[in-house]
Amino acid sequence: MSWATAALVLGLAIRTTRSTYKGFVNPLKHLNPEDGSIFWLNIKDSEPAQDLGLAIQDFLERREEYRDTLSTLSRNRVGTERCDPLLVDTQNIWPTVQRLANAGFELSGRYVNVGASDGENDDPLFEYVQRMNATGIAVERDPERCERHRRALPQVEVACSAVTPQNVLSLVAPVLLDKTELDVLKVDIDSYDCPVIEMLLPALTAKIVLLEANPSIPPPYQWAMLHHPELWNFFNSFSPPEDVPIRGCSLAYEVELLRRYGYDLVAFGGHDAIFTHESVRSAWAPHKPPMDEFDCYNEAFIAANGISIDKTRRWFFELNDTQVGLPEVWEFFVGWMQENSPQLFPFALRG
Ligand SMILES: *[C@@H]1O[C@H](CO)[C@@H](O)[C@H](O)[C@H]1NC(C)=O
Ligand SMILES: *[C@@H]1O[C@H](CO)[C@@H](O)[C@H](O)[C@H]1NC(C)=O
Repeated sequence: MSWATAALVLGLAIRTTRSTYKGFVNPLKHLNPEDGSIFWLNIKDSEPAQDLGLAIQDFLERREEYRDTLSTLSRNRVGTERCDPLLVDTQNIWPTVQRLANAGFELSGRYVNVGASDGENDDPLFEYVQRMNATGIAVERDPERCERHRRALPQVEVACSAVTPQNVLSLVAPVLLDKTELDVLKVDIDSYDCPVIEMLLPALTAKIVLLEANPSIPPPYQWAMLHHPELWNFFNSFSPPEDVPIRGCSLAYEVELLRRYGYDLVAFGGHDAIFTHESVRSAWAPHKPPMDEFDCYNEAFIAANGISIDKTRRWFFELNDTQVGLPEVWEFFVGWMQENSPQLFPFALRG
């Protein structure tokens, strides 16, 4: 093997193992159609400029094929409304709360935050809680973060405990007892998020639901990590935790689940999905939620962990048959666990 070939092989190896990603799902979103310039972010997790250039070239050449794939895969989509990525701030819930208030909906100042951390740093709920002096329950497993939360937001009750689907209802019992409709429900625990949400949805109502979504698994794939007592410890001790793909659930899984309880998808970006209850739909006029989850995904700027953007793009734009895609998604997760974890953790998957 010549040095040139060795370098090429090495280059390919590095490329395929790169697993954190910040950027758009659709590489053409990085292209300015007016002047052909490329918008590239000079940050640690961005796609290398050369790879992005190749991806853009591929998308320009296969644009029609990819459009056909999307229209085939999205036949059973839940939402049909175009998704304006600038309509909703996924990193700060306060503008959305204000939008509902301005439309005449009464706020209760009550909320639930599962996976609250310190309530302050990087929490999309912080401005809402502070401005409204909102009260409710914050669930957090780390005692030090619980302490910081109590100092930052003393009016909020902190349930300092590891959450499971079995104990979540007792951890949030005080808000269930007073039966007030919540302004906001947030779940972000980087592990078995969906099994926890599934316990909460029948027990309470919120105007806004904010969920962590694993952005690497595109619609229509409904994928979710299930509860396992060792999952979070595994995640937390992995080096580095940012590279762990077995976390959370996919956008399509959440859209299907939340629809059963009357919630509309209104936004998706980073690794978060925002839903509002159908009873507040009129606040979005002239937009008509639920938004098209395929369109939201295609427009999204994502922050992905543990799965290369090449794979995600293949599942979303290239494979027009879920009977081919499902085994591929399944194989990816099982393969990753066989290589990286002491055991297989359970997940759900359907297309
Ligand atoms: C915030 O609410 C708490 C109790 O819920 C109350 O004791 C406190 O005075 C309130 N603060 C403001 C600034 O309204
Ligand atoms: C799916 O893609 C294949 C090529 O990869 C093509 O032959 C086939 O017609 C496509 N099917 C549909 C339903 O678009």
